[in-house]
Amino acid sequence: MAARIDQVVTSGTFSLDGGTWEVDNNVWIVGDDEECVVIDAAHDADAIAAAVGGRRLVAIVSTHGHDDHIDAAPDLAVRTGAPVLLHPDDLMLWKQRHPDASPSGELADGQVIEVAGTELTVLHTPGHSPGAVCLYAPSLGTVFSGDTLFQGGPGATGRSFSDFPTIITSIRERLLALPAGTVVRTGHGDSTTIGDEAPHLDEWIARGH
Ligand SMILES: [Fe+2]
Repeated sequence: MAARIDQVVTSGTFSLDGGTWEVDNNVWIVGDDEECVVIDAAHDADAIAAAVGGRRLVAIVSTHGHDDHIDAAPDLAVRTGAPVLLHPDDLMLWKQRHPDASPSGELADGQVIEVAGTELTVLHTPGHSPGAVCLYAPSLGTVFSGDTLFQGGPGATGRSFSDFPTIITSIRERLLALPAGTVVRTGHGDSTTIGDEAPHLDEWIARGH
């Protein structure tokens, strides 16, 4: 049986550079009836644990270290015993939210996380943050893009540790290289496809965001 993808939308705040904003986040759960992976433990460990149910949680994978994507990760890890994985280049962001906790493992470009017979390949896609990653699941025809690519353009690069030319390079070289039909499941808001977004790259570069 193939893995399925469940979506949980949770609400909370994102804080950086002295500001705080209300946000809704997409939490993605990939797995079968036996085991699963959580992509971004955002805001609400209760809601995420309920969606995991009695399944074995293989890992809590963090697309990046912004606090809206990792605020519930330590709580969920304690409840489930699952390791929290984060690219080390985002550790300084994680520490702003969780100074007394650390991720239990690292993500690296090319790393493959297996769950329920499905492979999730880590694509290091810096720009929104230095350690931002996407998770590509070719057998499911989808990429989990975190805050790197949304319906309508790149993730924000206006705050600390972000860089617009870097995110454009990541999108061009890593994400737009995927098959056009690949469904892009984002960290916030609606899904899109690589083929729907690819024609707009030059517009985004011209407008600068
Ligand atoms: Fe973010």
